[in-house]
Amino acid sequence: MNITGNTIFVPGATSGIGLALALRLKSRGNTVIIGGRRTSLLAELAEAHGFETVRIDTADAASIAEATADVVGRFPDLNVLVAMAGIMRPEDWTTPGFLADAEETVVTNLLGPIRLIDAFVPHLRERPGATIVTVSSGLAHTPLRFTPTYNATKAAIHQLSESIRMQLAPIGIQVTELVPPAVRTALMPGHESADHAMPLDAYVDEVMTLLEADPEAREVLVEQVKLLRYAEVRGDYDQIVGVLNAAEERVR
Ligand SMILES: NC(=O)c1ccc[n+]([C@@H]2O[C@H](COP(=O)([O-])OP(=O)(O)OC[C@H]3O[C@@H](n4cnc5c(N)ncnc54)[C@H](OP(=O)(O)O)[C@@H]3O)[C@@H](O)[C@H]2O)c1
Repeated sequence: MNITGNTIFVPGATSGIGLALALRLKSRGNTVIIGGRRTSLLAELAEAHGFETVRIDTADAASIAEATADVVGRFPDLNVLVAMAGIMRPEDWTTPGFLADAEETVVTNLLGPIRLIDAFVPHLRERPGATIVTVSSGLAHTPLRFTPTYNATKAAIHQLSESIRMQLAPIGIQVTELVPPAVRTALMPGHESADHAMPLDAYVDEVMTLLEADPEAREVLVEQVKLLRYAEVRGDYDQIVGVLNAAEERVR
């Protein structure tokens, strides 16, 4: 995608990477509509930064349908969807009780983007410069012991992105996968100040630089995530899994 002149919907932009990216994109001349469940935060962000907003719960099919109709109706020029919303929950598979978190993770992180993309493709296929940005993780490629279902949903998002890219290219929709490394956000307790995680501003600055340098990018890979993304290819997978999990142990 070109990083200017778009109308962009970011469900999952009330905090963290989504909000930081929405701010950067707005400052580069895009119209940005932010979405999330926390309506008071949406109102505050609209007031503070001039964002357009929509309430959306991406774990709820009816809410996705309602928000899509609202956004497309109000912003017929919309040409970019950034499927940002996600959750990350620690799970202990050695004891009962993790299943509710696992199910919620699948519904939010995998079914949510699938439903969102399904809802927006009919509109996007009519728009010039149409782009869908998916959001996976370095953990799609190198797993964290504490978050099995999260890792699995992000690996699924990677494969989904690789597959639908081939289907959607002929109808004029680009698919770009954002692959963040650990970034200092509220996604997991302790992550906002974790030493091994990238500062949020540094992460989104590098993302903007990469998008600007290569508007056709299939994956947006900041330097720090390449350690995880290419561990298997380099042949140091076991070592990187060890280093990654030791770093997380220190946070927990
Ligand atoms: N931070 C990292 O280390 C990291 C690394 C790799 C990938 N990622 C991915 O980056 C994305 C953003 O995460 P973040 O780190 O910025 O965490 P965050 O600060 O917790 O932000 C998560 C965002 O998702 C929204 N969200 C969650 N569940 C939702 C739902 N059911 N419906 C609508 N919105 C929902 C939240 O909004 P509301 O609560 O207002 O609904 C919030 O805006 C996620 O997909 C995450 O998996 C993050």
